Amino acid sequence: MTKSTFKRIDGRAPDEFRKPIEAKVGIIPNADGSAMYRSGETVAIAAVYGPKKMHPQHQQDPEKGTLRCDYNMLSFSVTERIRPGPSRRSTEISKIMEWALEPVLLIDSFSNMVVDVNVNIVQADAGTRCAAINAAAMALAHAGIPMKSIVSSIAAGKLDKTVVLDLNKYEDSEFEEGEGSTDIPMTFTPDGELTHIQLDGKISKEQLKEAIAMAREAAKEIYQVQMKALKEAGGENGDA
Ligand code: CDP
Repeated sequence: MTKSTFKRIDGRAPDEFRKPIEAKVGIIPNADGSAMYRSGETVAIAAVYGPKKMHPQHQQDPEKGTLRCDYNMLSFSVTERIRPGPSRRSTEISKIMEWALEPVLLIDSFSNMVVDVNVNIVQADAGTRCAAINAAAMALAHAGIPMKSIVSSIAAGKLDKTVVLDLNKYEDSEFEEGEGSTDIPMTFTPDGELTHIQLDGKISKEQLKEAIAMAREAAKEIYQVQMKALKEAGGENGDA
């Protein structure tokens, strides 16, 4: 890890999570699976419905099932109210959720069917796509969707010259000192395989490796929190 005297605005060490991290499974009675994931001031709620027959019929895939994610940030989740409804950003993040989650789904076990994952961000302070993926992974397991494992998502990045974990809103959007801010959301399997990585900003190859290693360690801790929540809810589904 980069040794530095760099001070973060909230006093965290470079490799320190935001607190609290909280997870709860089984929060929406009408959904087939549901979960809440909180990291600091960011809160995501996921509901899973399905598998159910895909309509319209021409979208059915006889080879495999379809994972359909819908990410939504509620109007009151940030200080400056967001216009309700889909946006370019929410469409992009929904797609990213699908990419991050699909590699662990046994997708050919529900051919012609669709699994809907609806995520609402009720409070946002950066890192909402990671929180959304973490909540969705638990909700999918809770719904009993066949999966190899769940996934765990966290961002690492760089503030000026220092590699850091779990950027908050200020660090993500307003930090401008020196080399500025780079945010790298990532998603890992429990074995530490990446299922998703995004790079927003600039970073050297060496520091990118350092950021991935830092996030990989952090993802192990998130995994423990997710698994504990799943077990408390009755540990619906095998490994997940
Ligand atoms: O949330 P995440 O880091 O995955 O995505 P982002 O697009 O980098 O957004 C970072 C943060 O900016 C969000 O978590 C919100 O706190 C904030 N934001 C906002 O205040 N208004 C928006 N329309 C979009 C984002």
